[in-house]
Amino acid sequence: MLESLFILFCLFSSGFCIESNNITASLVIKDPDTIVSSGNIYRLGFFSPANTTNRYLGIWNYVSAMSIIWVANRDNPLKDSSGIVTISEDGDIVLINGKKEIFWSSNATSSPMNTSARLLDNGNLVLQDISNGRTIWESFGHPTDAFIPKLKLNDNPGTGERVLLTSWRSPQDPDFGSFTAGLQALNIPQIFIWNGSHPHWRSGPWNGQSLNGVTDMYAIYLDGYSVTKQDDGTVSFMQDYYGKILMKIILKSNGSFVQTMWNVRRRVWDVTWIAPIDVCDVYEKCGPFGNCNLRNSPMCSCLKGYEPKNKEEWDKGNWSGGCVRKTLLQCDRNNNSTDKNKAEVFWKITNVKVPDFMDVSTGIEAVECEGLCLRNCSCIAYSHDHGIGCMFWNRSLIDVRQFPIGGLVLHVRVAYSELDNQKDIRVIVIVPVTIGLVIVFIGIFFTWRWMAKRKGTKRKGRILTNEVGKSYISDSSGVVLRDDIDEPSLDELPLFSFQMLETATFQFDVTNLLGKGGFGPVYKGKLASGKEIAVKRLSTASGQGLQEFMNEVVLISKLQHRNLVRLLGCCVEKGEKMLIYEYMQNRSLDVSLFDRSQNILDWRQRFNIIEGIGRGLLYLHRDSRLRIIHRDLKPSNILLDEDWCPKISDFGMARIFGGNQNQADTGRVVGTYGYMAPEYAMGGRFSEKSDVFSFGVLVLEIVSGRKNTSFYNDELSLGLLGYSWKLWNEYNTVVYYEK
Ligand SMILES: *[C@@H]1O[C@H](CO)[C@@H](O)[C@H](O)[C@H]1NC(C)=O
Ligand SMILES: *[C@@H]1O[C@H](CO)[C@@H](O)[C@H](O)[C@H]1NC(C)=O
Ligand SMILES: *[C@@H]1O[C@H](CO)[C@@H](O)[C@H](O)[C@H]1NC(C)=O
Ligand SMILES: *[C@@H]1O[C@H](CO)[C@@H](O)[C@H](O)[C@H]1NC(C)=O
Ligand SMILES: *[C@@H]1O[C@H](CO)[C@@H](O)[C@H](O)[C@H]1NC(C)=O
Ligand SMILES: *[C@@H]1O[C@H](CO)[C@@H](O)[C@H](O)[C@H]1NC(C)=O
Ligand SMILES: *[C@@H]1O[C@H](CO)[C@@H](O)[C@H](O)[C@H]1NC(C)=O
Ligand SMILES: *[C@@H]1O[C@H](CO)[C@@H](O)[C@H](O)[C@H]1NC(C)=O
Ligand SMILES: *[C@@H]1O[C@H](CO)[C@@H](O)[C@H](O)[C@H]1NC(C)=O
Ligand SMILES: *[C@@H]1O[C@H](CO)[C@@H](O)[C@H](O)[C@H]1NC(C)=O
Ligand SMILES: *[C@@H]1O[C@H](CO)[C@@H](O)[C@H](O)[C@H]1NC(C)=O
Repeated sequence: MLESLFILFCLFSSGFCIESNNITASLVIKDPDTIVSSGNIYRLGFFSPANTTNRYLGIWNYVSAMSIIWVANRDNPLKDSSGIVTISEDGDIVLINGKKEIFWSSNATSSPMNTSARLLDNGNLVLQDISNGRTIWESFGHPTDAFIPKLKLNDNPGTGERVLLTSWRSPQDPDFGSFTAGLQALNIPQIFIWNGSHPHWRSGPWNGQSLNGVTDMYAIYLDGYSVTKQDDGTVSFMQDYYGKILMKIILKSNGSFVQTMWNVRRRVWDVTWIAPIDVCDVYEKCGPFGNCNLRNSPMCSCLKGYEPKNKEEWDKGNWSGGCVRKTLLQCDRNNNSTDKNKAEVFWKITNVKVPDFMDVSTGIEAVECEGLCLRNCSCIAYSHDHGIGCMFWNRSLIDVRQFPIGGLVLHVRVAYSELDNQKDIRVIVIVPVTIGLVIVFIGIFFTWRWMAKRKGTKRKGRILTNEVGKSYISDSSGVVLRDDIDEPSLDELPLFSFQMLETATFQFDVTNLLGKGGFGPVYKGKLASGKEIAVKRLSTASGQGLQEFMNEVVLISKLQHRNLVRLLGCCVEKGEKMLIYEYMQNRSLDVSLFDRSQNILDWRQRFNIIEGIGRGLLYLHRDSRLRIIHRDLKPSNILLDEDWCPKISDFGMARIFGGNQNQADTGRVVGTYGYMAPEYAMGGRFSEKSDVFSFGVLVLEIVSGRKNTSFYNDELSLGLLGYSWKLWNEYNTVVYYEK
């Protein structure tokens, strides 16, 4: 009763809200009434753009009337305020004026039916069939110029059906402008802004986490973007789980995407992202085979092996003609030409937004891309992304730009002769350096031999006091251990003989296999003295070369902490490299955490484990003599002793930082996907914060008992981080469900 009174009040007092979020045949909205979504987030009603008297039906955020996200009658404004929204006899939402002329219709029903329309809290106006609840029409399927959370930009390459944003004609005129934007899902998903039919901006390919050409867009768990594919072939790009944060990306009438977020405290819309972000971002700025880099002057240059098509125009700053190949490739020549040119090579350009029109081979390792491209004469460039696989180009390299950071590496096929200059430089530099190094190494080697002989007896004495109770100096080993190791540390570290380890592990029997790390199997062993050990046998095929091995030996022998695993010794013999650790009764954390057949850890144990890892990490970062970044923290690298005390292990990838160094870059990103901090995974920058990020992932895993990398609870499979973030935003608290 009260409610209907309120509705009546709303209806008769002009300009008031209607306490309902739906429109039915009996409930109409008259200008200037509005209806609000149930959570009071969006409003539907009439508005006039600035400096005009035209009336439009639209949807806007409750926070400010000027943030319009949808307009119904964009090309057909009402000239007066007699507008009425209702449901027509055949069930469509219609906008009529006082004379019952139709200005706009949802145009979705073909036969009469009973429907009602509802404005949802995500800004979607939905028309439903009352009899079965089926959605007949929704405003999200016909967006205006706003991309908001949960709105899906669809593309179906099979049927050609697309959901596109269309800009306003001008800031005062919501009529259809010349810019459209949407998803292009052919080959690989990319977002485009088109000016008419010509591309104006391109996002670069989606790699499952982010868009290659949008360097400030991080992984899904930070920004919440995702691409999903339905069974009918429809691919959707959408954004989700900002939760209660209001976010919108508007395609402005000048062709720019502008993302804004509502700042609750200052009550303003903060601009958080713009595209195109600079002139280089504009599609095909430098023409085919051109490269745009703002740091260069002029910003456009031809890719290696190419020259301006029209030198005069190019020098004038008219780059639209682009570049053409300078030297014919072997492929383009006659097969039996007597030309003695060697085969082609690839020239590398880093931090790029890769060109448009790529062919994709998914699931291929980076090392294989080059061979695949080289063997195929129509392949003129390739690139690799861990989320995509190999990308190949066969016609033209269009819309290449370079970023200061981020982006991918593009390998461009060039004639061998093109790289001659570089080769010369290399020869000049490499030859003397190599000779110098060889001399130094020979010197070091002989010095070492001399010193080793002198030390032999001294070392034996110490080792005999070792609890192992047996001398295990190996005479032939140790040679490789030389290069870059501090004398004292190795001195402290016993060498085990291969034969001894073979015996201890029963010839490395599979029954003694404890697990398989990234770098090789780990065996359980028992020394003659009865002491249990764990032997990590670095597989020769593994990526862990001598460098990582040395790293681990040196680092760990210098570190002493109850939350770091203790290295007992090492063995370098017969081409084998092995590390001997103390044996951990309770194996590694991933076993206790994810293996359902194990006893489930109680809260106290989990808390102690988190605390222990934290202490270990603090020691590495702050309290030890060296400052060490571990770079590969994950459950399988946390070992648990008989008291469930955690010990950090596996220092193969760790790096030592100088006293006041805060950040470093690496061209070689190593680690485990899912535990790597975004700036490290994407840009190779690492610091203590990268470890802290991994630690955060670990904590979530320990608390939830769920694995970050295999998390399918959610419809979008957001991953543990995305899921936690979503829950955090929705409920300000995180609740996990144990399966
Ligand atoms: C209209 O909205 C009200 C309140 O939100 C709800 O109770 C009612 O069921 C809705 N009617 C229809 C037909 O959806
Ligand atoms: C509206 O008109 C006023 C005065 O003519 C002008 O100053 C203002 O910039 C106009 N607003 C817009 C959005 O064009
Ligand atoms: C509705 O659909 C008909 C045909 O399907 C079309 O002629 C008409 O222009 C449409 N009206 C609106 C307002 O979209
Ligand atoms: C719509 O509802 C009315 C009364 O509730 C009913 O008489 C009519 O048959 C319905 N129409 C359709 C097409 O279902
Ligand atoms: C869009 O295209 C039109 C016509 O082709 C052109 O005049 C205009 O400059 C273009 N706008 C931009 C921003 O490129
Ligand atoms: C387009 O307009 C927006 C603001 O409306 C502005 O931030 C952006 O820089 C403009 N883009 C261009 C290319 O002028
Ligand atoms: C730019 O160069 C192209 C040929 O490369 C020519 O067709 C075009 O007219 C030139 N544009 C201007 C503005 O000079
Ligand atoms: C040229 O050689 C390649 C293999 O080297 C072969 O596949 C191709 O058919 C040859 N082309 C001609 C025209 O002989
Ligand atoms: C390739 O060489 C053979 C003989 O050496 C010659 O007969 C043939 O014409 C050559 N082919 C081309 C395309 O030049
Ligand atoms: C060579 O590359 C083109 C385009 O990338 C592809 O269509 C073709 O199948 C490839 N050929 C071979 C032999 O792989
Ligand atoms: C390049 O590859 C595409 C798709 O694989 C193919 O349709 C096109 O014909 C190729 N173009 C050339 C020049 O090989």
